[in-house]
Amino acid sequence: MNRYITIILIGLSILIFSFDSSQTRLSEDEKYIQKADSVLALMTLGEKIGQLNLPAGGDITTGQATSTDLGQNIKDGKTGGLFNLKGVEKIREAQRIAVEESRLGIPLIFGMDVIHGYETLFPIPLGVSATWDMDLIEKTARMAAKEASADGINWTFSPMTDISRDPRWGRVSEGNGEDPYLGAKIAEAMVKGYQGDDLSDIHTILACVKHFALYGAPEAGRDYHTVDMSRNRMYNEYFPPYKAAVEAGVGTVMTAFNDVDGLPASGNRWLMTEMLRNQWGFDGFVVTDYTAINEMIDHGLGDLQNVSALALKAGVDMDMVGEGFLTTLEKSLGEGKITEEQIDSACRRILVAKFKLGLFEDPYRYCDTERATTEIFTADNRRFAREVAAQSFVLLKNENQVLPLQKNGTIALIGPLADNRENMAGTWSVAGRFDESVSLKDGIENALGDQAKILHARGANIVNDADLEARVSIFGKPTLRDERSAEEMIQEAVEIASQADVIVAALGEAAEMSGEASSLSDIEFPESQRDLLKALKETGKPIVLVLFTGRPRAMTWENENLDAILNVWFAGSEAGDAIADVLFGDVNPSGKLTMTFPQNTGQIPIYYNHKNTGRPLAEGAWFEKFRSNYLDVPNEPLYPFGYGLSYTTFNYGGIKVSNEQIKGDQKLTASIELSNTGKFDGAEVVQLYIRDVVASITRPMRELKGFQKVNLKAGETKTISFEIFIEDLKFYNYDIDYLWEPGEFEIMIGGNASEVKVTSITWN
Ligand code: BGC
Repeated sequence: MNRYITIILIGLSILIFSFDSSQTRLSEDEKYIQKADSVLALMTLGEKIGQLNLPAGGDITTGQATSTDLGQNIKDGKTGGLFNLKGVEKIREAQRIAVEESRLGIPLIFGMDVIHGYETLFPIPLGVSATWDMDLIEKTARMAAKEASADGINWTFSPMTDISRDPRWGRVSEGNGEDPYLGAKIAEAMVKGYQGDDLSDIHTILACVKHFALYGAPEAGRDYHTVDMSRNRMYNEYFPPYKAAVEAGVGTVMTAFNDVDGLPASGNRWLMTEMLRNQWGFDGFVVTDYTAINEMIDHGLGDLQNVSALALKAGVDMDMVGEGFLTTLEKSLGEGKITEEQIDSACRRILVAKFKLGLFEDPYRYCDTERATTEIFTADNRRFAREVAAQSFVLLKNENQVLPLQKNGTIALIGPLADNRENMAGTWSVAGRFDESVSLKDGIENALGDQAKILHARGANIVNDADLEARVSIFGKPTLRDERSAEEMIQEAVEIASQADVIVAALGEAAEMSGEASSLSDIEFPESQRDLLKALKETGKPIVLVLFTGRPRAMTWENENLDAILNVWFAGSEAGDAIADVLFGDVNPSGKLTMTFPQNTGQIPIYYNHKNTGRPLAEGAWFEKFRSNYLDVPNEPLYPFGYGLSYTTFNYGGIKVSNEQIKGDQKLTASIELSNTGKFDGAEVVQLYIRDVVASITRPMRELKGFQKVNLKAGETKTISFEIFIEDLKFYNYDIDYLWEPGEFEIMIGGNASEVKVTSITWN
């Protein structure tokens, strides 16, 4: 290290130290700001702008980093952090360049898309949300943070909390479904899990709530498409999960690609400053999504200089990949289009995050090579992932109790996803070890040993269209297309099935058929696989569909014709063992859908918390002229929000309320008796919904306001109580004031949004 750098660094640490010791009257946050300001005072304009630049780190390799542009940019102080660079050695090397070879030695922050686990993968987020278990969800984030931080990562681009009512949109797999209340609870649990109580703890990482905002509502379900929504819907239905993440203390927010009310999120000052900072009090930093600033050129808002200035002024702090900030801000400053204070604010927020992570104290605190070899993909972590996976499965149908299966006889295991490890991970699993995932075939073999005979055939390709299949056979997740004709594959499968006692059909989507830029115009079950099922049905053998999917699918034929359907999403590293746990009854399924499954694509958008309209159709009716309905399909979904069966059965008694006439800020208690009336111990997610019957604006028919996951032994009965406060009745009115309005309310409790017990109360 040359002398000049050493002197600067020493000066820097003295400054930091002096602020540390003398400012005891300041709050923790103020101390961090003081520290950041002490660094800011030493920085040139170029270095400040450099901190706002976040390149993708993928092309850095150990030992060669100095020879790439990235390496040079780090040396020149033109980089605030890197993302998606995997491996502690590579990260250490990049950090070394920043700390030892840049003028001020400011450490880098290292981000990654740690979305549902690091190397040990949990189910896709939509699957994890189906557990409805907030402790479990928090633990998944904590474990992901532990693994990622053991490999050098200190920042994750998660949780993704975009509400979506459109299963055509591929990214529903990365979110938590359609409900704002549940989405908010999950957002909070994830932020707590990643960040813990102390960001400088080497086992915690900075979280990033995304994609702010409304990314889950693109027109026609097409990714990146226009979003246009009323303020009322934003505030009441789409904002709550982002807000909950902010209230839980999330350190960073990622902008969305889409347009919000005529201005792309990354250039939308109302969203990023008025709402996020001024109304919600967010004090972390805002990073754009991947090249989102540059994309505002195509949105039609001007050239790179223009859109970069727009983004900074809107409240964006860090520019992911696009280098608009790096290359144009100085010019904009010279031309008076932005102020140095705006650059300073952005830089300060990034420096504060680095202080909170403890990077100024020890830039290598997340670069312990020992941890990387002992704390990642461990047997314990994999055991936990298996448990979470089994909890996430949703039993959609189980005619004549065909499940659980006996561990004997002959099983025909058929389908393109039966013997495919790579696709178990699901989408957004950048750090995963795909070929070490447990396939369904592995899992069934592990469970059965030689107690039963397993016959296997592929049966069909994922889809008949080879071009479509090629589009989803990416990121190290090959679909292993079979070149035989569909007829040949079906014939082989039928022959095998005829020799078996039961057919287990492993069908659905390939992992990358959902996720980013994986929208579908038609969510009907793939034809190639339905043809296979039709042929298998002819054998008369019971068929259990093990459904792999990243989104709700339209599958009325499957629901009518198959004996059992177990939705296993993409369950992560331990998928096969977890599926076997449930198929053979070692675990009783308890997952419940967090997103409605429509009967067909045309019903989209379909969601449980819809409004009544002025011409509602009578409950249970199909069609009535001049009512709000379709000629060709009932209004009801195939499987409603909150739905999921168990190997046991549950009975709900009537609702008892503590008082039918409540006043002011009293508390209401609503209880039901829940009985396990079947032969298995099991868990049930009891759901509380409320309807505000008369209000100053139209209100949803029901809104989730509470839930409890309850374990009941076979034959056991428990009283389940919910406490309801006026807080639970509040909503944003026409003027976007948050309040409750006295009057009549319906209280509903049940096992899914469509099957509830109801009682009425008045609250004045
Ligand atoms: C995605 C983000 C992701 C980012 C970084 C973007 O394409 O929309 O969700 O965090 O890339 O990989």
